[in-house]
Amino acid sequence: MKIDAPASGHPAALGPVTDGVPRKLPRAARRSEVMPKPVVTALAKPTAQFSFHLKPADIARHLDRFVIGQREAKKVLSVALCDHFQHVRLTLEGREAPHYQKQNVLLLGPTGVGKTHLIRTAAELIGVPFVKGDATKFSETGYVGGDVDDLVRDLVRRAGGQVRQAEHGIIYLDEVDKLATREPGAGRDVSGRGVQTNLLKLMEDGDVPVVSPNDMTGQLQAAMSSMRGAGGGQPDTINTRHILFIVSGAFSGLADLIRRRLARSANRDARNSADALLARLTTPDLVAYGLEPEFVGRLPVRVACHSLDTDDLFNVLRRSESSLIHQYERAFAAYGIRCEFRDDGLRRLAELADAEATGARGLMTVCERVFRELKFALPSSRVRRFAVTARLVNNPKAELQRLLGRNR
Ligand SMILES: Nc1ncnc2c1ncn2[C@@H]1O[C@H](COP(=O)(O)OP(=O)(O)OP(=O)(O)O)[C@@H](O)[C@H]1O
Ligand SMILES: [Mg+2]
Repeated sequence: MKIDAPASGHPAALGPVTDGVPRKLPRAARRSEVMPKPVVTALAKPTAQFSFHLKPADIARHLDRFVIGQREAKKVLSVALCDHFQHVRLTLEGREAPHYQKQNVLLLGPTGVGKTHLIRTAAELIGVPFVKGDATKFSETGYVGGDVDDLVRDLVRRAGGQVRQAEHGIIYLDEVDKLATREPGAGRDVSGRGVQTNLLKLMEDGDVPVVSPNDMTGQLQAAMSSMRGAGGGQPDTINTRHILFIVSGAFSGLADLIRRRLARSANRDARNSADALLARLTTPDLVAYGLEPEFVGRLPVRVACHSLDTDDLFNVLRRSESSLIHQYERAFAAYGIRCEFRDDGLRRLAELADAEATGARGLMTVCERVFRELKFALPSSRVRRFAVTARLVNNPKAELQRLLGRNR
C-alpha cells in the first residue's frame, strides 16, 4: 500500500475531530491559516484523518491561558500528550513504531486545583473526543464490568458516532483513589479491585462492542441495520489501543504515607509539605495505598498538582481566561449592568475562598454568597454599574443598600 508523505510543517493540531474548538488558538495554531492543508493520507483501513503537529511548549502555553500555576503538571502532561498523539499520527500514516508503550497519566492533587480543568482544556486544543468518568460510579451499580466499557462507548457518542475517531480520544477517569482496597480506615470492598482489573485490559489494548450487550434496543437496531447493509462500514467494536487514559484522584493520606516511608529511611525531607512529599511518589507508595501493582504499572506518567494559595486564587480570578468573574460580568450585563471587579475586591474574594480549603471551587462558593442579594435586587433597580471592592465583598448587603440609595 502506498503511503503518502506525512503532512509536514503543518503546525495546527486540529484535525476534523473537534469536540469544542478553543476560542482562540495559540500563535502556532493561528499561523496554520496560511499554511497548506495537511495531505490526506491513504490508510490500511478507513479511518479518521488526523493531523497533530503541536509541540509540548505549544500545549503548555495554551494551558497557561486557562489554568493558573501547576507548572510541573502542565509540562508533564504536554509531553505525554505530544508523545501519544505523535504516535497516533504516525500510526495513521502507516508508520507505527513497534513496541510502543502508551503513556497513560496519573494526576494527583487535592480538590479544586485544576486537574479536570487541565485535561479538558488540553483535549479541546488537540481536538480529540474526550470523556470524563467517575471511578466511584462503577462500583455502585453492582455489576462492575459493563460500566468501564460504557466510558469507551461514550467516546463514540462524543465523536458523533465515528468509531475510528473515538479510537484516538482521551478517557479521563476521576476519583481512582477510591478504588484503593487497602486504604486504612476507608477500607473499600473488593469491587474497587474489580474495577481496576477491568480497566487493565482497556488501558492497554482491548476491544469494546459498540453496542452494549445490555442494550436490547441497540442490539436490535444494530442487527437490523446490518441486515439492510446500512451499517455505513462502521466497525462493531472499538479498539482501545490508541485511547489515552488519564486518571486522577485526591489521594488523601498518601502524602502521610510517603512521609512515614521517608522517616523510616531517616530522610530529613520527611518534614516537607504535602505538595513536596507527593513529588517524591513511588510505585510502592501507590501499592501501599491500595492500588493494584498492575494498575499502577499501566500509569507510567505521574504528576502531582499543588494546592492553590491566596495569590494563586487571586490569579485564577484575575488572569485565567476561564475566570468566574466573566460569568458574573455576563450575568449582570444581561440586564444592562456593568460589574467592575477591582483588585482589592478580587484579593478579598481569594482570601475568603482560601479559607474554604476546596481550592478554586471555594471561589464559586464565596462568589455565590457575596453576589446573592445583588443578583436579586440590582436587575430591578436603577443601578447601571457598580464596582466589586473589598468593601462590597466584606459586606454585600450594606453595599447594596448604599447603591440603591444612591440610585433612587
Ligand atoms: N489552577 C487553576 N487555574 C484556573 N482555574 C482553576 C484552577 N483550578 C481550578 N480552577 C477552576 O475551578 C474549577 C474546578 O476545578 P477542577 O474541576 O479542575 O478541580 P479538580 O482538581 O479536578 O478537583 P476534584 O478533585 O474535586 O475533581 C475549574 O472549573 C476552574 O474553573
Ligand atoms: Mg476533577
